[in-house]
Amino acid sequence: ERESTVSITVVGASGDLAKKKIFPALFALFYEDCLPKHFTVYGYARSKMTDAELRNMVAKTLTCRIDKRENCSDKMEQFLKRCFYHSGQYDSEENFAALDKKLKEHEASRLSNRLFYLSTPPSIFIDAVRCASQSASSANGWTRVIVEKPFGRDLGSSAALTRALKQYLEEEQIFRIDHYLGKELVENLSVLRFSNLVFEPLWSRQYIRNVQFLFSEDFGTEGRGGYFDNYGIIRDIMQNHLLQILALFAMETPVSLDAEDIRNEKVKVLRSMRHLQLEDVVIGQYKSHTKGGISYPSYLDDKTVPKNSLTPTFAAAALFIDNARWDGVPFLMKAGKALHTRRAEIRVQFRHVPGNLYKRSFGTDLDRATNELVIRVQPDEAIYLKINNKIPGLGMRLDRSNLNLHYAARYSKEIPDAYERLLLDAIEGERRLFIRSDELDAAWELFTPLLKEIEEKKIAPELYPYGSRGPVGAHYLAAKYNVRWGDLN
Ligand code: BG6
Repeated sequence: ERESTVSITVVGASGDLAKKKIFPALFALFYEDCLPKHFTVYGYARSKMTDAELRNMVAKTLTCRIDKRENCSDKMEQFLKRCFYHSGQYDSEENFAALDKKLKEHEASRLSNRLFYLSTPPSIFIDAVRCASQSASSANGWTRVIVEKPFGRDLGSSAALTRALKQYLEEEQIFRIDHYLGKELVENLSVLRFSNLVFEPLWSRQYIRNVQFLFSEDFGTEGRGGYFDNYGIIRDIMQNHLLQILALFAMETPVSLDAEDIRNEKVKVLRSMRHLQLEDVVIGQYKSHTKGGISYPSYLDDKTVPKNSLTPTFAAAALFIDNARWDGVPFLMKAGKALHTRRAEIRVQFRHVPGNLYKRSFGTDLDRATNELVIRVQPDEAIYLKINNKIPGLGMRLDRSNLNLHYAARYSKEIPDAYERLLLDAIEGERRLFIRSDELDAAWELFTPLLKEIEEKKIAPELYPYGSRGPVGAHYLAAKYNVRWGDLN
C-alpha cells in the first residue's frame, strides 16, 4: 500500500489560539506517537517570518506537560524540525498555490492528506477556505478544514457562512470545533449514562427534578473586549458549549456510536426544545469592585468595549425540552465572566424519594435530602453523587455525603487537552465530536429570537461586582421553577 502523509497548515499561525492551543496540542500528539509517521506542520500568516523564527515562536509554547519526569527536549527538537512557515495573504490564491508547491515537496510521491486549521478572525474564513481549497487542496488524498466559532451571530449569518463554505467544501470536509466536546468529562458523559444501570433508567422526568449547566470564569474579558462585545456571553458560551453538553445529556439513545447516529439524536433533541422566553432569561454585566485593596475593572473599563455597551457578560436561562422524556423538567444554564471562581459543571438534581421514611430527619428542608449527581468538567475533574447517610453513632442522624470519583486520585495519567483529542479526531476522520451544519442551525434557531429581542428592546443587564456570584436575578429565575442552584463553592 502506498504510504500517506498529513500536512497540517495552521492558518493564522501567529494568533493567540495557535500559540496557546494548536501547536502545543500537535506537539502532545507527536509526543504520544499519535501523529502519522509522515507529517509536516505549516504555519501560515501574513507577517514575514523564517522557518527558524516560527520554530522559535512555537518552541516557547511547548512544555513537557505529559510526562513531567522526563526531559522532552529531544522530542521537541524532532517536532520542531517538522514545523515550517509560509507567509501569505489570506485571500490570495497565488500565495496558497506557493504553499501547495512546498507541501508537494514534503509529500514527495506519498499519498497526500491535508488538514487546514483556520485560526483566524471570522471575517477571513471564506477567503481562506476559497484559496486553500482552490489552490492548496490535496490532489490524491483528503482535504479537511477545521473552523472555530463564531459561526455567525444568528441563524441568518450562520446559514450564510455555511452556504459560502459549501461552495468550496463538502460538509464531510468541514470540521466545526466546539472545544467543550473535546473535554474528557464531556466525552465521558455518554459512558456514564449509557453504560451504568444505576443511571441509565433514571435519566428522565420520572426521576430527575432539574439539570444545571454551569460555567464560570474568575476573570473578565481582559484584552478580548473587542471580540466579545460583538457576541456576548449567550453567543460565546451558551449557544455552543453549554447547549452542546445539554444535547449530549438529554438526547435519546443513539442507534450506535457512529458520528451520524449521535449527531442525529443531538439534532432531534435540540429541535424539541421550547422557544426561549425573555422572562426565562437573566442577563448581567460586571462592574468594578475593590477587594483586599485591589480594584478590579468593570466590563466598560475595557478600552476595546464601547461606552454604554449593553453586552451581557453573564446570563442565566431556564430551558425546556418538549418531549416525552423531559416534559416539564427545567434545564438551567448559568454562564458568566468575572465571577468568584473558575468552574464548569453539570448538576443533576433527582426527585424526592416518595414516602421517605426518614423525612423527619431532614427537618423542613426536604430538597436538601435529594440525591445530586455532579460532573465537574473543570478544573480538578470529578464525578460525585450526593447521598444520604447515617452519621455513625447510637443516634439516628443523617447527613449528605459524597460518593466521590476524583480523577486526580483515581487516574495518574494527565488528562489530555480538548484540542489534542479534536485534532487527532480530525486527522483520523472521526466526526463524532464536531458540529454538523443542521446541529448548528438548530442551536441558532433556539437562541436567535431571544437574542434579537434582548437587542431590540435594549434590555439593560443587571450589574454585578467583579468577583461576585453574579446577579441575584439568577436566584429568582431558579426559584420560579423551584430550583436552587447547586453550590459553586
Ligand atoms: C471560548 C470562549 O470558547 O471558551 C471564551 O470564547 C472562554 O470566552 C473559553 O474563555 C473557555 O474555555 P475553557 O476551555 O478555558 O473553559
